[in-house]
Amino acid sequence: MMFKNFSFLSMIGCLALLVGCESSNISSSSTDITASNDGLNFNGNVMVVYFSATGHTKDVAEIISDYLEAPIYELEPVLPYSSEDLNYNDSNSRVNQERNDPDHITELVDVTFDEFDESDYIFLGAPVWFGELSWVIDDFVLSNDFTDKTIIPFATASSSDFDVEDLKDLSEEATWMEGRRFLQSEISEENVIEWIDSLN
Ligand SMILES: Cc1cc2nc3c(=O)[nH]c(=O)nc-3n(C[C@H](O)[C@H](O)[C@H](O)COP(=O)(O)O)c2cc1C
Repeated sequence: MMFKNFSFLSMIGCLALLVGCESSNISSSSTDITASNDGLNFNGNVMVVYFSATGHTKDVAEIISDYLEAPIYELEPVLPYSSEDLNYNDSNSRVNQERNDPDHITELVDVTFDEFDESDYIFLGAPVWFGELSWVIDDFVLSNDFTDKTIIPFATASSSDFDVEDLKDLSEEATWMEGRRFLQSEISEENVIEWIDSLN
């Protein structure tokens, strides 16, 4: 009887142990799966592409590229923007004329880059112009096929943010992440790296 009770209790104990082991396996493997699905895996499959008229977005792009050891490409307009061109206070300036032309595309010197095909993630940077990511990136986005690619937009600005919803029409096949705007006062290695780490 003693023996019977003992073996019955041992059986319960073993079962509890087994269930415990099993469930801890399940929870640890599901944690792993969640981590790899939710985080972005920047493993040699990233590139940085940016436009910068006065150097601030370039600073952020270079920090991203250095940190991830990713190739970096600057989008260069065929006609570079002079400071008069960029004068948004002049209603006749180039930026205001382009902004008011719904069909305007700024033609870029180059829109195809070596590592594009094997890049799963493209950090795409530009300054905020009139509350949106500058249209100078449009030629690059419209000229490439972003199927199976994720675009991570980033911007610099003096005060405004940008809305990723305004960008999605440029490439419906791309997965667009929300992205990040850095005020000029926020541009630092520490802040940019902290943001990248938060994506991983
Ligand atoms: C044409 C133009 C429009 C701009 N519009 C905005 C704006 O709407 N909101 C804002 O916060 N900053 C605006 N800015 C300021 C830029 O976003 C800011 O200076 C940015 O950091 C410049 O980046 P870059 O040096 O890479 O060109 C504008 C600048 C220009 C030239």
